[in-house]
Amino acid sequence: MFITFEGIDLSGKSTQAKLLYNYLKKRGKKVILVREPGGTKISEKIRDILLDKNHSGMFSLTEFLLFSASRQQLTEEVIKPHLRKGYFVICDRYYDSSTAYQGYGGQVELKTILGINKTASGGLSPDLTFFIDIDMKESAARRKAAGKLKDRMEQKKLNYFNKVIRGYRELAAKEKGRFKRIDGRKPVGEIQDKILNIIRKRVKNA
Ligand code: TYD
Repeated sequence: MFITFEGIDLSGKSTQAKLLYNYLKKRGKKVILVREPGGTKISEKIRDILLDKNHSGMFSLTEFLLFSASRQQLTEEVIKPHLRKGYFVICDRYYDSSTAYQGYGGQVELKTILGINKTASGGLSPDLTFFIDIDMKESAARRKAAGKLKDRMEQKKLNYFNKVIRGYRELAAKEKGRFKRIDGRKPVGEIQDKILNIIRKRVKNA
């Protein structure tokens, strides 16, 4: 089973991805946790290029193609082989990030995004996607509290992120079977319970 986590920065999706990983592991399941962009030697190098603050001159299409390149390497090198061996694969971000950020964010045509998403993922779609939903006000408050600095992607304008959030919400509404939208303002434990309830409905002995 291929499970992905989506949401804007500081939504808590990485925390939930780790909690689910630990939970499934404790239940004796074969499971791996990977992240995007990254997750392989080559993809981590692409990640460094993408997040480098010195690369302010990066064109939108270049950005999108680099995310896609990182994804294709991760998919073929790690995700697909593990799925074939019966693993649960949990991925912190997948192609919905490109649809929401590069597509709904308004930089690359959605039609282009959807086509390349399909190609770069080799036709692989997540079985289940958890969208941890917070707004920009909450994200900014959490950033301040954590004293977290911004990478290149995070330096984009407020309006951009609002479009990204709207994009995620639209995607979640369109694909209700796969996409589970969860209120990210709730306490960590409560969110985890919601996620586990959904998992238990789909996975035997989970
Ligand atoms: P990261 O530090 O991993 O952020 P987070 O912890 O929020 O996941 O950086 C990844 C950044 O790249 C993040 O700002 C979202 C962005 N991104 C895209 O814009 N498109 C994509 O396809 C992916 C995978 C990520």
